[in-house]
Amino acid sequence: MLHKVIKKVLMCEPIHFSSLNYSINPWMKPGKINKEKSLKEWNNLVSLYKSLDIEVEILKQMPDVPDMVFSTDQGIVHGGNLLLSRFKHKQRKNESKHYEKWFQKNGYKVKTLPANLHLEGNGELFFWNDLIFLGVGFRSNKSVAKAISRFFGKEVVVIEIVDPYFFHLDVGFFPLNSNTIFYYPPAYSQKSQKKLKEIVPNLIEFTKTEAFGFCGNSVATDHHVVYQEGNYSFDNKLRHLGYKPDPVDLGEFVKSGGGAHCLTNILEETYES
Ligand code: ARG
Repeated sequence: MLHKVIKKVLMCEPIHFSSLNYSINPWMKPGKINKEKSLKEWNNLVSLYKSLDIEVEILKQMPDVPDMVFSTDQGIVHGGNLLLSRFKHKQRKNESKHYEKWFQKNGYKVKTLPANLHLEGNGELFFWNDLIFLGVGFRSNKSVAKAISRFFGKEVVVIEIVDPYFFHLDVGFFPLNSNTIFYYPPAYSQKSQKKLKEIVPNLIEFTKTEAFGFCGNSVATDHHVVYQEGNYSFDNKLRHLGYKPDPVDLGEFVKSGGGAHCLTNILEETYES
């Protein structure tokens, strides 16, 4: 069994996050974000990563792009390349140029998808063993699967998202290691649930409370799991599986439909047994 060990991540300091003034998913509460609290929560996440030996690269947020804080949505790092995202909503499109600049400056080759396709980075896509899981329905559609498969040279398993609360795959789907995936079944079509049962040896269901407690947006590194605090049943399950849960409060970010996974773009990782 293999575990991902995260070595380096890219995060975006939320200095303009509280200016959020639109809603593009059902979690969003424009005008309700507390700036000091969001900065404190974000700094706690940075400190936690550093304590887990993860190097943190920081990009300063630009004005007028409040959701720019969600670095994982910006593109997929793979073998020195960045596959840059193309956002569906106009409110997020301007985030891309700032990230494109950062990645170029830091030596990544920036690649783009054909103009008619949408993809919102690691919000929608997980590498798992030899496969790629791709969430479609709200932000991306099936037609992007072929391009992704060609780009990464891997088989793509399409997961149809049917509940708008789980608009990105990483809201209700959490691969813990090469054997185990947590997921919230009602978020996905019957066909996709069936497919997951066929593929994943240890597929564990989130309860409704866990799913709406944002457990799906956790981050696993080595034998640690960073998750939204207060989810005691999830904490217990992780301990039973031999993991050390590391709770963090990211409640201000949940007011935009984001959590630990959304705030973290993995730049370097290894897989260890
Ligand atoms: N407000 C953002 C949006 O709707 C939240 C994105 C969260 N990112 C994620 N990977 N789930 O696009």
